Amino acid sequence: MKTRVAVMHGVNLDQLGRRDPEHYGRLTLTELEVRVRREAVDLGLEPSFFHTNHEGEFCEELHEIAQTQDGIVLNPGAWTHYSWAIRDALEIAGLPAVEVHLSAVDEREEWRRVSVIRDLCVGSVQGKGVEGYREALEILKAEFGT
Ligand code: DQA
Repeated sequence: MKTRVAVMHGVNLDQLGRRDPEHYGRLTLTELEVRVRREAVDLGLEPSFFHTNHEGEFCEELHEIAQTQDGIVLNPGAWTHYSWAIRDALEIAGLPAVEVHLSAVDEREEWRRVSVIRDLCVGSVQGKGVEGYREALEILKAEFGT
């Protein structure tokens, strides 16, 4: 049975709590992870968490991820909009993935409306704050068929 989910955060998401609360809410990344862990466990999933501000490290994590995980929930931050390297690494990972954004990226600046990973993902959730992670986990769980 597939239950293992990597929850991956990219650049500047360690600064949650200091960023515009209108878009990103008031939780710190640690607080968000506590909340997401609870939701995941509630759904019968086993979450693990990863964050880096370094694009290459994010790629390297994706290279190895299929050895230990069954699916991915990822919020790559601004990399979402332009990192072809992360797109390629996500394709290499070969696991079902759901893209999440705290803010409604499709309703913000033009450059945020582009996602170079979206078509590789089985789902995409945006604009729902921390609640969006629950929805992303539910999409993955359905994908696992559990
Ligand atoms: C974000 C949206 C991105 O455009 C932004 O660069 C982020 C966070 C979000 O969660 O809403 O850092 O991914």
